[in-house]
Amino acid sequence: MPTILVLHGPNLNLLGTREPDFYGTETLEEINGHLESLAAELGVDLMVRQSNHEGELVEAIQQARGVAEAIVINPAAYTHTSVAIRDALLAVGLPAVEVHLSNPHRREEFRHESLIADVVVGTVSGFGPVSYELALRAAAAIVRKELAP
Ligand code: DQA
Repeated sequence: MPTILVLHGPNLNLLGTREPDFYGTETLEEINGHLESLAAELGVDLMVRQSNHEGELVEAIQQARGVAEAIVINPAAYTHTSVAIRDALLAVGLPAVEVHLSNPHRREEFRHESLIADVVVGTVSGFGPVSYELALRAAAAIVRKELAP
């Protein structure tokens, strides 16, 4: 079965209690559980990682080469700052889907810029945990060649 890397960035380990008005009350463990069930339905394997450290996220992207066929990534705050994550995505060349629980464009101006938006296939944001499900569906469709990368 094809493998998809699901990568969660900083502070997403605190989901459930972190700013529930923006991020809801589901924990990361619950979100990952729903993604695992959906992955089984879609016929893909998941590799799920969360890190609060930029370098670890870069390494997870690098290690996906030869292992995963697509990446679903919520770089969290690094979305707006990390040239290193952008460069890692470019370096491995795997199709990636950017995901956000909140809609950054409805929030502070510094969240309006994503440094990865133009190197991913597409972005899903604003739908809470459903954003992840839609992103996984898109990644699975890309892997199955039903969607162009
Ligand atoms: C986020 C949006 C980012 O601006 C923020 O820094 C996060 C989470 C989201 O999922 O809505 O940590 O990526």
